[in-house]
Amino acid sequence: MRAVLLLPLFGVLSCAKNINVRDERELEWWESTIVYQIYPRSFADSDGDGIGDIKGITSKLEHVKEIGAGAVWLSPIFQSPMYDFGYDIADFYAIHDEFGTMEDFEELVAKAGELDIKILLDLVPNHTSNESMWFQEALKGNEKYLNYFVWEDGVLDENGVMQPPNNWLSHFRGSAWEFREEVGKYYLHQFVVGQPDLNYHNPDVVEEMKNIIRFWLNKGVAGFRVDAVNCLFEVDKELFGGKYPDEPPSGRTDVDSGSHDSLQHIYTKDQNETYYMVYEWRDVFDEISKQDGLPRLMMTEVYASIKDVMRYFGEGEREGAQMPFNFDLITDVDASSSAADIKRAIEKFLTYKPVDKNGNWVVGNHDKSRMATRYGTALVDGINMLVLLLPGVAVTYMGEEIGLVDGYVSWEDTVDPSGCNTNDPVNYVKYSRDPERTPFQWNSDKNAGFSTADKTWLPVAEGYTKLNVEAQKTSARSNLKVYQALANLRQEKVFRYGRYESIALNTDVFAFKRWYNGETYLVVVNMRDSEQEVDLTYFENVIGKAAVVLRSVQSPKNEGDVFDVASLPVAAFEGIVLKL
Ligand code: GLC
Ligand code: MG
Repeated sequence: MRAVLLLPLFGVLSCAKNINVRDERELEWWESTIVYQIYPRSFADSDGDGIGDIKGITSKLEHVKEIGAGAVWLSPIFQSPMYDFGYDIADFYAIHDEFGTMEDFEELVAKAGELDIKILLDLVPNHTSNESMWFQEALKGNEKYLNYFVWEDGVLDENGVMQPPNNWLSHFRGSAWEFREEVGKYYLHQFVVGQPDLNYHNPDVVEEMKNIIRFWLNKGVAGFRVDAVNCLFEVDKELFGGKYPDEPPSGRTDVDSGSHDSLQHIYTKDQNETYYMVYEWRDVFDEISKQDGLPRLMMTEVYASIKDVMRYFGEGEREGAQMPFNFDLITDVDASSSAADIKRAIEKFLTYKPVDKNGNWVVGNHDKSRMATRYGTALVDGINMLVLLLPGVAVTYMGEEIGLVDGYVSWEDTVDPSGCNTNDPVNYVKYSRDPERTPFQWNSDKNAGFSTADKTWLPVAEGYTKLNVEAQKTSARSNLKVYQALANLRQEKVFRYGRYESIALNTDVFAFKRWYNGETYLVVVNMRDSEQEVDLTYFENVIGKAAVVLRSVQSPKNEGDVFDVASLPVAAFEGIVLKL
């Protein structure tokens, strides 16, 4: 009797073993998407002033669609004197005139909607512009707005000369404090002088920022990338007798005393209050989503320890950002890295992230040397294979789909404060972010088709006549075509729901496996200029033959070619996707 009863039960149990209830859950729009970052000044210039603009972006949305991206994140488009190219915002509720008008923006959102592309904006909560009404009112002595900023008395040195309150440094060199005669005090600016830090201990500031979020989300914006969040709070000075304390030296010998990296930012970064502010913003996102049914996405920009980055996901009952950016493939590895280094960098985020949250893959942005330059042009397809086929959200900085490289920007042409503030016509190159911001390369026409102007705001990179979207569209094999194929492949369930495992097969060749419901894919990337033969049977359940589904531009293989997985030949810098 017992045995008879157990038999059907056993059947149910063994069946349940094969089906993971999490696997087929419906994903939110952002969980399987590609987020495409556009730096608006450099994407497309519609009015010939040499500066990219919103109408330009609208006119090029088809490109975004063609590469398979589902969301666009725009670097700031708000009214700004452009001391930090839009990250210094004078009016959070208005569109910067060089970029266009509010109508242009609404048109962009509408056109994107037709193409099923979400628009994400850049929220810059840490600071405003010194030309904002808030700061101008503060200078006039308006109490309400004085309290929007962080003011501190200077100190007299032994010669009786007034000096900044303490040793805090700006990210762009020199003191983080600037004296204002009108107030008789110094204000804090962790970035350029024109970016006064907001005072988050003031509830008015907190409410104001929430209203800014509401304003744009109500316009149909699908979320925000949140800028420099870990700089939001400074330590409570009351804990230090009412004076902000000095930060200790970092001990780094590769930087001089004016550099931000010469200090350990224990009082100006990663303060506990910051995380709770992010959780409050998430509540605002959810409040709007509840009203109109569109789930909103928050991506936080934080360069910090992995444990601190993880805190942005949420804590206990509190939800935070769905996507604390994973910068490990920018900060931890480059062309010189071994396969093991790559494996470790990839697994870091996956290991630390909460089990119910998503990974995300970022290899470039407007602050970092371009992916093709950092990894080398031969690895562009291989790196895009990682970004698009690893488990989680893929992020592409405009140009990565065609392997755009850094442009050369002379000292004379340099405009980025991070470069200019070095005052050093030789070493500025180590700091300037202009090279990764040079105009997008559309075709071989004047200014790479970016603009009809005689002079563009940054020079177009050399080599654009060959390296551009049009050339890659017409060529039989190109980075662009590989990217598009990857974006298509990414739609397969195995890349949405499938498991992941990786192996550094030797010092040069990194491989990972994705599998789901009996389907198995293998992705193999050779980081070096060397020929290899690798044995993929080190992966569990990988035996027999596998067919090439996709390969990098320089690969000698063909789609459909079949190989013995125990002895796969791998060419220099080759990237291959195989199906078992
Ligand atoms: C972020 C931005 C960077 C900007 C800084 C200050 O790091 O990505 O471009 O300069 O914040 O807003
Ligand atoms: Mg323009």
